[in-house]
Amino acid sequence: MSDHTHILVYDNTCPSRTGIRQTIESGSLSIRPILHSEDSSFGAEVYGVDWSQPISADVVTQLIALQDKYAVLIFRKTELDNSRHIAFSQQLGDKLEINPFFYGRENDRLREPLLFDVANIELDGSLVKMDSRRYHHSLGNALWHTDSTYHQQRSKYSILLSHGNPVEGGSWTHFADTRRAYSDLSQAKKDEIENLVVEHDLWHSRKLAAPAVFGNPLPHELAAKPPAYHRLVQTAPDGRKTLYLAAHAKRIVGKGTEESQRLIWELIEHCTQSKYVFSMEWLSGGDMVWWDNRQSMHRANPYTATMTARDVRRSTILDDGPWALGVSTTGLD
Ligand SMILES: [Fe+2]
Repeated sequence: MSDHTHILVYDNTCPSRTGIRQTIESGSLSIRPILHSEDSSFGAEVYGVDWSQPISADVVTQLIALQDKYAVLIFRKTELDNSRHIAFSQQLGDKLEINPFFYGRENDRLREPLLFDVANIELDGSLVKMDSRRYHHSLGNALWHTDSTYHQQRSKYSILLSHGNPVEGGSWTHFADTRRAYSDLSQAKKDEIENLVVEHDLWHSRKLAAPAVFGNPLPHELAAKPPAYHRLVQTAPDGRKTLYLAAHAKRIVGKGTEESQRLIWELIEHCTQSKYVFSMEWLSGGDMVWWDNRQSMHRANPYTATMTARDVRRSTILDDGPWALGVSTTGLD
């Protein structure tokens, strides 16, 4: 799967390479949209939030409306610490996902089960070793995916916040507009996929990215994270249809693995054409990106042997909407 894991920056970048961007003023907020098309806006940088104070309910409402429209919101130099990162996340939904790889405070660099440590830093402060299980696990994040599709209760938002210095030489996270990608499918393809249900399995994407290490997950790993089932075509918060896809997508219910993988990757390749994708550059500590897993896909660049420290931490907010629990497994083959 090396095609999917090499370091890449797509044509559209944030900040823009040309520097020419429209700014929309909305009350105390300034919004700079990133990707425009006739029927869609995808991604925006948002300025004007005072992150030094608790965020008011009114601003939260405004931000959720922007999130529904743009699917990915970027905030620069927020300087939030762990507790304020969590507090803001808790204003966006009832429950945060507990990090399933949290094995006790003494074994976790962040000592916080509500944050996922996705840094390239080991517990002792050293940089991640290229042959470690942590490194191999991280490779899956460089495949196009959507967070937590492998949970039966999916997650609606992820909020990734950087701490400390940016990576020397730059680092990027890439986002794909699955609403616009769905809208551009042929009617025949839309009809073909309308009622499909997808089996999502964390161990599938780990195996794709790191077959030597995760080719045969251990029985207790499989038992800890069984697959989950979600509809392929979903309705986004703004009412448009969208594709709910990820590298975790292993099989389409009722189809064989090979046929399933062909269709899944055909659709992922479709969604991740450069016209649907932008690359967010991490410019400084405190930069934060909040995305909607129900209407976008994303990928990281993989860790490299020469990469300097990248201290990024993620909160994940559980979906509490009508499609949160996916499809019941009863009666599925
Ligand atoms: Fe992710």
